[in-house]
Amino acid sequence: MRARRGVLLLPLCLLLASCATVSGAGRSTADSRVDALLARMTLAEKVGQMTLISVSALRGTCQGGQIAPLNASCLQSELAGAHVGAVLSGGGESPPDNTPVAWAQMTNQIQRYALAHNRLHIPILYGVDAVHGHNNVLGATIFPHNIGLAATWDPALARQVAAATASDVRATGIHWVYAPVSDIARDLRWGRYYETFGEDPFLASQMVAATVRGFEGTNFSTGVSATAKHYVGYSGAQRGLDRTNATLPLRTLQQTYLPSFAAAVHASVGTVMADSGAVNGVPVHASSYLLTDILRRQLGFGGVVVTDWQDIESLYDRYHLATSYNDAIRLAINAGVDMSMVPDNGVDFAHRVMALVRAGKIPQSRIDDAVRRILTLKERLGLFAHPDVNAASANAAVLGAHRALARRAADESMVLLKNQGAVLPLHGVRTILVAGEAATNVAEQMGGWTIGWQGVPSGVSPPAVTVLQGIKAAAGSASVVDETDPARAAAAARHAGVAVVVLGERPGAEGPADTETAELPADQTAVAQAVEATGTPTVVVILAGRPLLIAPLIQKASAVLMAWLPGTEGGDAVADVLFGRVNPSGRLPVTWPRQIGQVPLTYDQLPNTSADPDAVYHPLFPFGAGLSYGVYTTNGLQAAAHGRSVTVSVSVGNAGSMAGDAVVPIYGRADAAPVLVPDKLLIGFARVHLNPNQTKSVTLHLSLQPLAVVTGDVNGSGPPRIVPGPYTIMAGTEQVNVTVH
Ligand code: BGC
Ligand code: BGC
Repeated sequence: MRARRGVLLLPLCLLLASCATVSGAGRSTADSRVDALLARMTLAEKVGQMTLISVSALRGTCQGGQIAPLNASCLQSELAGAHVGAVLSGGGESPPDNTPVAWAQMTNQIQRYALAHNRLHIPILYGVDAVHGHNNVLGATIFPHNIGLAATWDPALARQVAAATASDVRATGIHWVYAPVSDIARDLRWGRYYETFGEDPFLASQMVAATVRGFEGTNFSTGVSATAKHYVGYSGAQRGLDRTNATLPLRTLQQTYLPSFAAAVHASVGTVMADSGAVNGVPVHASSYLLTDILRRQLGFGGVVVTDWQDIESLYDRYHLATSYNDAIRLAINAGVDMSMVPDNGVDFAHRVMALVRAGKIPQSRIDDAVRRILTLKERLGLFAHPDVNAASANAAVLGAHRALARRAADESMVLLKNQGAVLPLHGVRTILVAGEAATNVAEQMGGWTIGWQGVPSGVSPPAVTVLQGIKAAAGSASVVDETDPARAAAAARHAGVAVVVLGERPGAEGPADTETAELPADQTAVAQAVEATGTPTVVVILAGRPLLIAPLIQKASAVLMAWLPGTEGGDAVADVLFGRVNPSGRLPVTWPRQIGQVPLTYDQLPNTSADPDAVYHPLFPFGAGLSYGVYTTNGLQAAAHGRSVTVSVSVGNAGSMAGDAVVPIYGRADAAPVLVPDKLLIGFARVHLNPNQTKSVTLHLSLQPLAVVTGDVNGSGPPRIVPGPYTIMAGTEQVNVTVH
């Protein structure tokens, strides 16, 4: 029955001018088209859909690792021979000529080859890591990395950033992004800390959901599929070591690590990428508990589960969990993996899967389930109707686009941590010294995953406004001098009204960016110390993806501005804050420890009976810290519980003389819980624009879900639930009690 329906429907669709119109008519039409296709597919064709190769396998000598033109013999063996259905560009895997037009031509060429060489005309799904703008493409506007976006506490902005990114990605013929990173920042030693939306599960969940919605649009067919990665527990790896085991109580996994993934699923994320690491001694790629019981059954995820880089093979050759590569494939697919990222061995993978199915080691039903999900995604993305892109318009669509949005995102991400004697905003200074190599270092301003995997490669100059350029453009009649040498910088500082020392972390990604110190390179410390020693008021600007543990430099500075990895418009944004064109509004989405011995340090510590209970959380700057030019007040807090939610209202006022945005966090706590709970956890927040002397009343309807706990003894493992009883709601210095029945 199914097959006959399929045979009738498929040609009908192919004859129509736009299949999207048909699929747009309702899920059932799309579903039956997918069923029809499935019914006609051979095992080899199905397995090809489960195979994701790197573009490197389609060019040069087909071996990977080369930036070269596409090669017809590689296209033949991978796309025509092995029926491979998906291709990615990993970090830095651009076409030889890295322009938007060349990207569009490359993806079109792959797409057209695939369509011409597969009898069912199933389009290729092309994916790319667009983690802060279309970041592999030279000339694309680079937005702040997620940690900076999280500092904005502005999900609506994150949604706009993702929508802008999606439009650039689509313009190059790409329909799938490996973003948003939905991991929770728990240990700043981890090299991917900056890719997250911070340490708090609620803040991260809000940003993740907004980003998914921005990428995918209201209608999938105009956006790109997002990917919640890296599911789950990746960021909890011991000592912050990338791709290692995380020892996580299931209670912690449920309460801290899963909510952001649940938020992505709730926002209809199309794909989920598995974590390359292991949890409690089980690699995630082999865990049917995580990939099926929790992801499918508890969270209700209906999309595609994709592996990370070569990770099925890792079950065998790195983790020694399986006795052979074939056994590793059996474990992973049966655990719930739908598509395997096998960068340069797609043909081999496909053959192995077929052999396993024929030997009865992988059930046919598991294959059909995976392929159905993949085809459904392609269908929803409109790929059957519009498989390629108008390459001629790619440059115009991407180059120089969204600069105003990037500026606003960078502006809002700036966190002013210190401002002694109101040295900022700068006023009446005649000479400004700008010191430090980071003031002109575009790579440090961008961070990792920018054109290159480990950051901007040497010799490549993406468009950007550096901090020095931003300051010069904003300085008006003040003169700006710049120095990088410590002795010359100190001499110049003595003649300057103010010194701005710009410090930058070396860019990096993944394991190469893990750190055991979170300090600065010695040459940069030397400049900062030399300038501070002169006694000239010094503003320290930090370009980094994590709190740098440089407390002595911070303590001696008059002002400290955390600029994160602000991207293309970073220099203008720093200047906007320094000169008071923008009233800083960013707030730390993470805790800033005093020294490395405190790490990992997050604000949600549990009550304790130690001699000095406050010592468990004694950071340099706490979660949520951030100053503005002026003072905001919150008072008149009221809260009422309804079922499992609360309505909270509070008055927010601007007692300063400058308009600005106040970020108002709302915290909560269960006053009697069956397990230990933190003294406060974020349950909501608002950004409120206020003119001088203006007061606004804010009312928020908040779920108490962020306060839900996994009940049970030390072996508690089920989904978190909201326990009835007394709760405290907090805003500013006020708190009120509510009772949940
Ligand atoms: C990273 C992923 C990324 C993939 C493709 C992996 O090494 O862990 O985050 O999506 O490469 O570039
Ligand atoms: C990394 C990927 C990256 C790729 C780029 C791999 O080793 O794990 O994340 O995209 O290299 O070539």
